Amino acid sequence: MDYKKYITVVPDWPEKGIRFKDITTLMDKGDVFKSAIDEIVEYAKEKEIDIVVGPEARGFIVGCPVAYALEVGFAPVRKDGKLPREVIKVDYGLEYGKDILTMHKDAIKPGQRVLITDDLLATGGTIEATIQLVEELGGVVAGCAFLIELSYLNGREKLKGYDVLTLMQYD
Ligand code: PRP
Repeated sequence: MDYKKYITVVPDWPEKGIRFKDITTLMDKGDVFKSAIDEIVEYAKEKEIDIVVGPEARGFIVGCPVAYALEVGFAPVRKDGKLPREVIKVDYGLEYGKDILTMHKDAIKPGQRVLITDDLLATGGTIEATIQLVEELGGVVAGCAFLIELSYLNGREKLKGYDVLTLMQYD
C-alpha cells in the first residue's frame, strides 16, 4: 500500500526547519492502520519474537497492536521518572533535543527475542538507546520495525548488524 499519501507533512513544527511527519492521519483510517500493522506482524512472525518493546509515546501506538497480534507481551520504554519500579536508564540524543530513557529492570528475561517498534526512524538516537536498554537486560534484538524512515538523517548507520523494516522512506 502507498502509506505516504496518508502521512501529513507539517512544515516548521515543532521547530522552524523541521518537516514533521504526522501519522495520525494514517492511524485514523482503520483499514490503512491495520494494513501497516499487519505488514509489521508478517515481518515479525518468522522471528520467534517473545516480547515487543517500544519507546513512548508513538512506539506504543505501533508496538501494542503488533504484540497483540503476535500474542506476546509488550514492554514500554519511557522517559525518566515515568516508570514506578526499579529501572535501568540511558542518555540519548534525538532529532531535536536530549533526554533519558528507562525500562523496568525485570521487563525482559535474559535470552528473550525482542522486536523493537516505533513510528519513526530519524537520527536513530531513540532506537539506539532502546537497543542499549534491551541488551543490557539480556534481550536479543531480533528485529526493528518502523512506519517511517527519514533516510537523509542516516539513522540506519546506528542499526548496522540489526534487521530493520521501514514501511516508508523520505529522502
Ligand atoms: C520521536 C519518534 C521517535 C523518535 C525518532 O519521538 O516517535 O521515537 O522521535 O527520532 P530519532 O530517530 O532521531 O531518535 P519523540 O521523542 O518526539 O517522543 P513522542 O513519541 O513521545 O512524541
